Amino acid sequence: MNVLWIFAHPEPRSLGGALRDEGLRTLRAQGANVRESDLYAMKWKAVVDADDFGSAAPSDRLIVGSTSKHAFETGELSDDIRAEHEKLDWADTVIVQFPLWWYGMPAILKGWFDRVFVKGFTYGVRRPDGKTSRYGEGALAGKRAMVLLTAGAPEATVGPRGVNGEIDDLLFPLQHGTLWYAGMSVLPPLTICGADRVSPEQYDDAVATLHGRLRTLSTRDPIPFRSQNGGDYDEHLVLRAELAPGRSGNGVHLL
Ligand SMILES: Cc1cc2nc3c(=O)[nH]c(=O)nc-3n(C[C@H](O)[C@H](O)[C@H](O)COP(=O)(O)O)c2cc1C
Repeated sequence: MNVLWIFAHPEPRSLGGALRDEGLRTLRAQGANVRESDLYAMKWKAVVDADDFGSAAPSDRLIVGSTSKHAFETGELSDDIRAEHEKLDWADTVIVQFPLWWYGMPAILKGWFDRVFVKGFTYGVRRPDGKTSRYGEGALAGKRAMVLLTAGAPEATVGPRGVNGEIDDLLFPLQHGTLWYAGMSVLPPLTICGADRVSPEQYDDAVATLHGRLRTLSTRDPIPFRSQNGGDYDEHLVLRAELAPGRSGNGVHLL
């Protein structure tokens, strides 16, 4: 197993840092090959700008969809992006770890996706029949991904009637709109709630849960998202009326 661990936390001595260390140690002890993208340690540039595109940078004419016109095909992407592509090519499994900040990922991690998941590498690839390969098909198909999240919110507040909403909804943009979009099989996330006040016993529980999840990385069933080209969606990519009748929302995209 080749595991790429993406870590987005500024403080290595944090709870997140301790879980990362524990996770990497556990994977190595399991015999996995492990590489890491520790985004703060790498001083990852979080914003897309013209330096990313080389000579394919926008000219003085209006370019529709300019930020999609990446230089992946011409090999003109900047070295830091290409290094991440090489790691993703190598990996069969990707762990995405971050603390929940304002209902989402830290900006440095959003910037990793913005800059690394470029057209031609993770999306914009067509099948022989002309359909776009995405949502279950695509360049990263065959790889597995799992989100490892710490959240300050107590567990009860992250649920169907909890004030924070459901974790699957909070993670829908990442798990469905990004990882599954690019073709990856997304394993159920591991969320450590109440992460601002963790007793030694709770920490031990979290580590034990993490161990269990890392042991089953290659065997656990992924989240059963519907594939775009499997027949469940009509020509406008709207879920067919006979599926999940009368329901709407993120959950209808699950089998
Ligand atoms: C800028 C910021 C925004 C946060 N937003 C949320 C949030 O939206 N929901 C939540 O449950 N916790 C939120 N938290 C709490 C963090 O998720 C929590 O402090 C962290 O996961 C604890 O792990 P750590 O010690 O490894 O940082 C936020 C913390 C910060 C610093």
